[in-house]
Amino acid sequence: MKTVQEFMSMKQAGRKISVVTGYDYWSALILDESDVDAILVGDSAAMVMHGFETTINAELEMMCYHVAAVKRGLTNKFLIADLPFLAHKKGLTFLTESVDVLMKAGAQAVKLEGAEQNIESIKHLVSAGVPVMGHLGLTPQSIHKLGGNKLQGNDESSSERILKEAQSLEDAGCFSIVLEMIPAKLARTITETLSIPTIGIGAGIHTSGQVLVLQDLLGFSKDFNPKFLRKYLDGFSLIKSALNAYNSDVKEEKFPSAKESY
Ligand code: KIV
Repeated sequence: MKTVQEFMSMKQAGRKISVVTGYDYWSALILDESDVDAILVGDSAAMVMHGFETTINAELEMMCYHVAAVKRGLTNKFLIADLPFLAHKKGLTFLTESVDVLMKAGAQAVKLEGAEQNIESIKHLVSAGVPVMGHLGLTPQSIHKLGGNKLQGNDESSSERILKEAQSLEDAGCFSIVLEMIPAKLARTITETLSIPTIGIGAGIHTSGQVLVLQDLLGFSKDFNPKFLRKYLDGFSLIKSALNAYNSDVKEEKFPSAKESY
């Protein structure tokens, strides 16, 4: 299993870090045997696994349930869990208890969105021995404040702010930062300025690594086609064809065969 120290060495050596989300046991078994470096139980679970419109509906209990399921399928992957909406805004006691249950469910690190007001919380967690990943740019828990899934940091003042925030996250002790939906040039500046690794999604090639939602990269999300997404499988069509093949075999009495019967 890779460690936070190895992620740092990978950045220093110019070796890219691959991160994929995971939410359940059966995909964790596949992820575990893959070459991917780390797994994120993202609060995108609320959308991908539960059909909510935003990540705001990810509750702590939901996150723990997914972390525990993924953990049961992993033997050798570093597992990061998202802190759900407002978990770091309800005081240090609530935050500490949230991290406690996520880590006891199997997470080895937590990710939280934003900088500014979170610095004390991050310092608190890091001093307690918890690896913390930051998340800047498009922070989906603030979707209503941001006015949608829009590119962030595309003017001088917002790009300067994001760069400053990234520096403050590193100073607070984050081991890595997700950069979501920002211009490639800004992601490059941040990556070159910081010593910790940056993990991009919609942030171009010049980050220390990339993260994608598993179902997106496998092409299960038929109607989700942002510019940054590369689909490595036409999962939706393949699974639909398999289901239809099963359906016709049942209807045409081709399944089960004598060989498949007792
Ligand atoms: O929740 C999530 O899946 C994420 C990634 C997109 C970085 O935060």
